[in-house]
Amino acid sequence: MRKIKLLSLAALSMCLTVNAAVPVYQDESKPMEQRVEDALSRMTLQEKINLIHAQSKFSSPGVPRLGIPELWTTDGPHGIRPEVMWDEWDQAKWTNDSCVAFPALTCLAATWNPEMAYLYGKSLGEEARFREKDVVLGPGVNIYRTPLNGRNFEYMGEDPYLASKMVVPYIKGVQSNGVATCVKHYALNNQETRRHNTNVIVDDRALYEIYLPPFKAAVQEGGTWTIMGAYDLYKDQHACHNKYLNDILRKEWGFKGAVISDWGGTHDTPQSIYNGLDLEFGTWTDGLKSGALSAYDTYYLAMPYLNMIKEGKVGTKELDEKVRNVLRLTFLTAMNRNKPFGSLHSDEHYAAAKKIGEEGIVLLKNDNNLLPLKTDSNKKILVVGENAIKMMTVGGGSSSLKAQREISPLDGLKNRLKGIADVDYARGYVGDVTGEYNGVVTGQDLSDSRSAEELIAEAVEKAENADYVIFVGGLNKSSGQDCEDSDRKGLELPYNQNRVIEALAAVNKNMVYVNVSGNAVAMPWADDVPAILQVWFLGSEAGNSIASVLVGDANPSGKLPFTFPKTLNDVPAHKFGESSYPGIKRDGSDIWDVTYNESIFVGYRWYDKEKVETLFPFGHGLSYTTFEYGKISIDKNEMTADETITVSVPITNTGDRTGAETVQLYVRDKKSSLPRPDKELKGFQKVSLQPGETKTVKFTIDKTALSYFDDKQHEWIAEPGDFEAVIAASAADIKSSAKFKLTE
Ligand code: BGC
Repeated sequence: MRKIKLLSLAALSMCLTVNAAVPVYQDESKPMEQRVEDALSRMTLQEKINLIHAQSKFSSPGVPRLGIPELWTTDGPHGIRPEVMWDEWDQAKWTNDSCVAFPALTCLAATWNPEMAYLYGKSLGEEARFREKDVVLGPGVNIYRTPLNGRNFEYMGEDPYLASKMVVPYIKGVQSNGVATCVKHYALNNQETRRHNTNVIVDDRALYEIYLPPFKAAVQEGGTWTIMGAYDLYKDQHACHNKYLNDILRKEWGFKGAVISDWGGTHDTPQSIYNGLDLEFGTWTDGLKSGALSAYDTYYLAMPYLNMIKEGKVGTKELDEKVRNVLRLTFLTAMNRNKPFGSLHSDEHYAAAKKIGEEGIVLLKNDNNLLPLKTDSNKKILVVGENAIKMMTVGGGSSSLKAQREISPLDGLKNRLKGIADVDYARGYVGDVTGEYNGVVTGQDLSDSRSAEELIAEAVEKAENADYVIFVGGLNKSSGQDCEDSDRKGLELPYNQNRVIEALAAVNKNMVYVNVSGNAVAMPWADDVPAILQVWFLGSEAGNSIASVLVGDANPSGKLPFTFPKTLNDVPAHKFGESSYPGIKRDGSDIWDVTYNESIFVGYRWYDKEKVETLFPFGHGLSYTTFEYGKISIDKNEMTADETITVSVPITNTGDRTGAETVQLYVRDKKSSLPRPDKELKGFQKVSLQPGETKTVKFTIDKTALSYFDDKQHEWIAEPGDFEAVIAASAADIKSSAKFKLTE
């Protein structure tokens, strides 16, 4: 007995020795905060400083002495970016750094399907994990304020509710892989023109009601582990280290994660210390070592910070807080032993990309049911346009990818119709023949020396003898179009496209216009073209998704996440002159003030108020089947702020194909103390219906759906009074509505 006791004591002490060998910070069975404090207590001042700024273009160093690993970030947001050199933007020339390119985020938003957002995030996170990345620099949720913004394609449209509902599952999907999202660009980075020195002047109502909700949802519902500070200024401070934005993020929303600067978005050491910046990346340097100093040592959160501490100008309280935030992030990602291994280029990822693409494509117009293509009796299909053949995954700025493969619209259609129809091609116009971003080349030779007249003549001649003409045009990812760092010059289609489209429509009545873009474009010929599809930038599976919708394998179910205005002059951001966009230079300074004069009236909120007719409204999208909306009913017509109301509406598929419809719920405040939009989106549901099938869609309205932000009281207020629940198929297609009261 005694012997046994001795043995077990020995075993126990062995156990203790083994456990003692694992420091607390490495022991994943210990509570997170205990591990963080333990690691913090072991670090030297220099190690703490090192932890909070970059050591290369995309990584920070961790704490090598303690075995705390490096953090590797990557763009984002549509696929995992190829590797660049340690210190330079040039390609590292790896051969294992390609990816599956997913559709751009405008397309994801156009699915109006949170399940697609989860699938997207999960698949992207798996690719990130396999490529050994810890932080994906995305998603982007800056609100669509002007169709000129070169980066709208990376964002989720004009409505804060839609963007909020779509960003949350994306985050959960990515982070289920032990990979952090970095939701960007916080905040007010709504244009690319002079993005580094634009100071945004916006009232609190617009800030809280329009521009911040997706970020708040990302923090509070999505639980994003990081946020990226934006380039612009707000109240004269750069957003990366902005007192006001940081107070909202941390104090009002309780964000516990890490704030990462946009690359080169840091400008000031004291502001970075006190206003919540945790990790500094990409500050402009030559990126090369000079003398004894690495360029990274000169970052605002590197030696300048260390010197301030050594000189006694600042304490270390803020530094410890930053280190804690970065350690927590590291434990959740790089140092997480339970994370999955991920996967790359998998069939599942291609299938996800194709499905999201199909669901996001929006059928804008379909007169006489021209689509889907009737492909019996060996039809002749003519495809025209540069975007039918141009690779779109390369370009656009930091979201540029090295896709393992990319199917062009022309190839997608040819593959799908092989042996069924005769698919011919004419170029129609020459746009941008370059195909290079940061050293990734498409390898396509798109040069064509024919004149505009010759190109049109060829296309028209072929169109005269075709059963269908499918023009694939729109924008591309070149500078000045859907591309980072500059805005578009106007709403018009570039190159010679309008002329080509008009010439084709004049000779062939069966014309389909397929618009590849992340932005609205003007369509002066819209009345003459019977079918119009908005297909976004769809990534690797672009051609397959497009063919699938054109032929009718997939029934389109996307809806617009932003309005297509008729002219730029209709757009609220452009109504108030230069002060509103692109801004006015301040005397004696290189700061440009941009005033959001339209306030909360962004997108459909403006078109409703001003009764402006649009080309295609927010929320619009057709199907190859038809839906009949029944009458709205509500379970009661009065509620208190603590109660909810249930709104129901039956919807029937009255056509002969299975299809999905997104039913939209808007709320209208009949009378309020502060000006409010005519109606605001407060619910949506995408329902799939067999022919003849009816489903009843239900929505719950609570006080958050009724509230506005009172800037005087700095509070969300649900003001008692009369409201209306509005069921609609788009912002301009109201089906029925029901009145109710919010009582005291
Ligand atoms: C962009 C970010 C991007 C970063 C890193 C910046 O220029 O604004 O969105 O994540 O570069 O490439």
